[in-house]
Amino acid sequence: MRQYELAEERGLDELAIVERETPAVAAGQVLVRVRATSLNFHDYIVVMGWFPAEKGRIPMSDGAGEVVAVGEGVSAFKPGDRVISTYFANWLDGPVTAERVAMMRGDQVDGLAAEYVVRPASDFTLAPANLGFEEAATLPCAGLTAWRALMVEAKIKPGDVVLVEGTGGVSIFALQFAVAAGAQVIATTSSEAKAEKLRALGATHVINYAETPDWGAEAVRLTNGRGVDVLLEVVGGEGITQSIAAMRTGGIIVLIGALSRSPLKFPMLGVLNRNLRLQAITVGSRKDQEDMVRAIEASGMRPVVSSTFAFEQLAEAFRHQEAHGHFGKICVTI
Ligand SMILES: NC(=O)c1ccc[n+]([C@@H]2O[C@H](COP(=O)([O-])OP(=O)(O)OC[C@H]3O[C@@H](n4cnc5c(N)ncnc54)[C@H](OP(=O)(O)O)[C@@H]3O)[C@@H](O)[C@H]2O)c1
Repeated sequence: MRQYELAEERGLDELAIVERETPAVAAGQVLVRVRATSLNFHDYIVVMGWFPAEKGRIPMSDGAGEVVAVGEGVSAFKPGDRVISTYFANWLDGPVTAERVAMMRGDQVDGLAAEYVVRPASDFTLAPANLGFEEAATLPCAGLTAWRALMVEAKIKPGDVVLVEGTGGVSIFALQFAVAAGAQVIATTSSEAKAEKLRALGATHVINYAETPDWGAEAVRLTNGRGVDVLLEVVGGEGITQSIAAMRTGGIIVLIGALSRSPLKFPMLGVLNRNLRLQAITVGSRKDQEDMVRAIEASGMRPVVSSTFAFEQLAEAFRHQEAHGHFGKICVTI
């Protein structure tokens, strides 16, 4: 069977497939035929060598596939079950702790860029029954991050106004979950073509952040002077001043990512004056993932897959991600 392993040298040109024996399943483990993975910014910085990971590590945090065999004592799954990987090896349930977020797949422990993997059964949950493998493979990182931000931390309710930034994986999931929960969504993008797609997914308002640099004030205007209840911050840098300007008093900003390369500019007074709550998150627990899977099945929501590449084209898939041409998630079929 074939898998990607990180070489000594890092970079997209160094990504190579190696042949390995298909591993045997032991007690407590499952053998999974991985059928798809999806790209995240974290995977990119790992393969580029900007994030530490040892030589030989299998990259890619996300995977969907089917159970081929189960070891002794495994009752949660049976052969034929369609499953998705969890993001953290040690975070099954409960609040975040340093130990629970220490073992990320694809850097601290092996990821899913392999035709077969043998892992503890707790490394997987069932996949939503209504999704194909590529769609399901988008969930463990971007999907769960958006889910936890809105449902676990911000606890949104119908009528809330949620602001999402840009059209990457996390933001599109957040738009879909927020709409499904009865919230209104203001989305930002730099592209008019993408604005149409955002409206089609249910965004109430779209702001072009390239044409409207003062988009925080525009969000306040669109909410009749009130400001937004919840904002998912994926850009950081100087843009956080606009995020803070967009908020209603007492709102929550969920700190998720830093797509902007500029240093964080933090206007403390704006946060104080509005009594804002800032909550940083890293993905979520296995239990959060089970809750998200149930919600996706109940709502019939389908993740937005922007494009799909073959297993041999992982480097090309990352180049596509680098170019920012995508809307939603980029997948790789295995
Ligand atoms: N904390 C966590 O648990 C967690 C989990 C997942 C991801 N993240 C982080 O969250 C961030 C987003 O991840 P992702 O996978 O959704 O990213 P992504 O798919 O690569 O998002 C790219 C999109 O973001 C928008 N964008 C890029 N630079 C921007 C800028 N300077 N200002 C405004 N918008 C900008 C663009 O949208 P338009 O083309 O529409 O303008 C772009 O197409 C990353 O930093 C990632 O590392 C964190």
